[in-house]
Amino acid sequence: MQPLPYAPIAATGSCAGFAGIEKRLARPDPTVVGYIVALVGAYHTSVDTPRNLRRAASRFLELGRPEVAAYLEERAREETGHDRLALKDLRALGVPGERLVANFIPEGIRPLCKRFDDLCVEDYPIGCIGYSYCLERIAALKEKGDIERVQAMCPDGVDATRFLRSHSSLGSEASHVEETIVFVASLPANDRIRVVQETYESALILAEGYNHELLKSEAEMLEEMQQAIGEVLPYRRGSGLSHAEQRGAQPAT
Ligand SMILES: [Fe+2]
Ligand SMILES: [Fe+2]
Repeated sequence: MQPLPYAPIAATGSCAGFAGIEKRLARPDPTVVGYIVALVGAYHTSVDTPRNLRRAASRFLELGRPEVAAYLEERAREETGHDRLALKDLRALGVPGERLVANFIPEGIRPLCKRFDDLCVEDYPIGCIGYSYCLERIAALKEKGDIERVQAMCPDGVDATRFLRSHSSLGSEASHVEETIVFVASLPANDRIRVVQETYESALILAEGYNHELLKSEAEMLEEMQQAIGEVLPYRRGSGLSHAEQRGAQPAT
């Protein structure tokens, strides 16, 4: 993947957060069960995004900052429906997606969702741009090979990588990152500083959350989900899908 031109933001310090994530992330062998947890996390980090961004946009209109409001409205439009991509992927894997997301939110994802909710209702909610940039920048690091590894883990004919493709260097994330960089570069210095600070803070929360989930065993993850929905999922421990060979995956979020 070509490096993205994120210098205007990274140069002011946010790259430290990403570097921290890279060093601190657990790297267990990927499994289908881990991928399902990641898809549930992807759903939860996507489902409220349009509403939250529109709430922040309204506040910027009140503050007399229509250019920030317009940027956030556009982002809200672009992010609409992404939660449904994760649901479709879960269904494609034979998982009762709606029931699972309604009853289960991975513990490591909870603080991330709360951070975004909180940022979007602040009196001056510019930090929500830093949060969004952080998640999109991390997603844009995923390459074709990462998606192919997940695809290889799925049964033949099953397409469970809609969310992952869309949130990778192959999908819209790369352009979202570039658009955000251009927009943030046009903001006054205080806003740029706040965006960078929040990008860094969000990166730390993301790293903590991923580690919390990634360090769980496959059995623990499966047990948590089954407890939440009161149903046995169609997976054999250690072998992924009951009718598929396990060959490797990446987190979807
Ligand atoms: Fe998205
Ligand atoms: Fe995006």
